[in-house]
Amino acid sequence: MTYRALVVNKQGDDFSVAVAQLEDSNLPAGDVTIRVEWSSVNYKDGLACSPNGRVVRSYPMVPGVDLAGIVENSTDSRYRPGDAVLVTGFDLGVAHPGGFAERARVPAAWVVPLPAGLTTKEAMAIGTAGLTAALSIEALERSGVRPSSGPVIVTGATGGVGSTALSMLVQLGYTVAASTGKASEHAFLRELGAAEVLSREEVSAESTRPMESERWAGAIDPVGGATTTYLLRTTKYGGAVAVSGLTGGTAVNTTVFPFILRGVSLLGIDSVMCPMATREHVWQRLATDLKPHGLLESIAVETGLEGVPAVAAEILAGRVRGRTLVRLGEQDA
Ligand SMILES: NC(=O)c1ccc[n+]([C@@H]2O[C@H](COP(=O)([O-])OP(=O)(O)OC[C@H]3O[C@@H](n4cnc5c(N)ncnc54)[C@H](OP(=O)(O)O)[C@@H]3O)[C@@H](O)[C@H]2O)c1
Repeated sequence: MTYRALVVNKQGDDFSVAVAQLEDSNLPAGDVTIRVEWSSVNYKDGLACSPNGRVVRSYPMVPGVDLAGIVENSTDSRYRPGDAVLVTGFDLGVAHPGGFAERARVPAAWVVPLPAGLTTKEAMAIGTAGLTAALSIEALERSGVRPSSGPVIVTGATGGVGSTALSMLVQLGYTVAASTGKASEHAFLRELGAAEVLSREEVSAESTRPMESERWAGAIDPVGGATTTYLLRTTKYGGAVAVSGLTGGTAVNTTVFPFILRGVSLLGIDSVMCPMATREHVWQRLATDLKPHGLLESIAVETGLEGVPAVAAEILAGRVRGRTLVRLGEQDA
């Protein structure tokens, strides 16, 4: 049998990204073979599809850090043909052929059974970005942040992590502020429930003051850099900042004062190597109380395999809004 896949290749200075017809013999070693129905484009896939992205560990590679589909066969007794499953992170799409393919084979230890309450399409509209948003919310909750604690801010709010985090927090009853660099998308953020929209300039401004007026009970920050510095200066006593990304930079210039005078916590969020017990628990929540309102209607758009390189370039340029689903197989009409 053959299957279609997006393949990135780099040999010396030659870089290519193109849809190819692959043989079954191209499937890697693994326990569970999956007919992929949906994938999605994350920031890391943008890097994987670019010549200088530095995330792909061996070429040629099928990118795609997310996939959801139906088990075709499994050598692991936990999975049977016909089971609906999803896989995100680990080596998928960077060191092990990933989700931008009609078929995939993965270790059973990476597989999450699709929770009741989600279709494979909805699971991929959430994807790694939504999982990261949910992990960030759980981290804030563990720090004691509650809707009654005060406003929570989401940075990079029109992006994948940001838009899903905003929608989930609103649903949980938080008052949410959103920051964005896209002046044209304030209405979108209001539609998702943002009570206030701040400009990227405001939340990435430099300051000589180690602390400023207390504003935020918590923050979900996929932007990093100067934005994280701003959040640490403005988080309220006992609050917490959950950092997951670096679209705004990697260097965080801070002092110890927010930590030692306000008891502020800086929480690191990782979805890639997140333990399986946590994944299964968080995916259950993503199918229930954290399932974002407006997921397919407002947040996600669709493309086919051929459309992925263009979306990948747009995501690196910071021009994508929400989430982009990738249709595969019979869905890829
Ligand atoms: N830790 C993890 O496990 C994990 C998981 C998923 C993602 N991430 C990371 O989280 C980040 C966001 O991922 P994503 O999938 O949400 O990407 P995305 O959909 O591209 O969203 C990123 C958002 O960041 C903002 N942004 C872009 N360029 C910026 C700049 N130069 N300065 C400040 N803000 C900028 C934009 O939002 P606005 O236009 O609204 O400002 C953009 O939409 C990435 O760095 C990604 O690698 C980490």
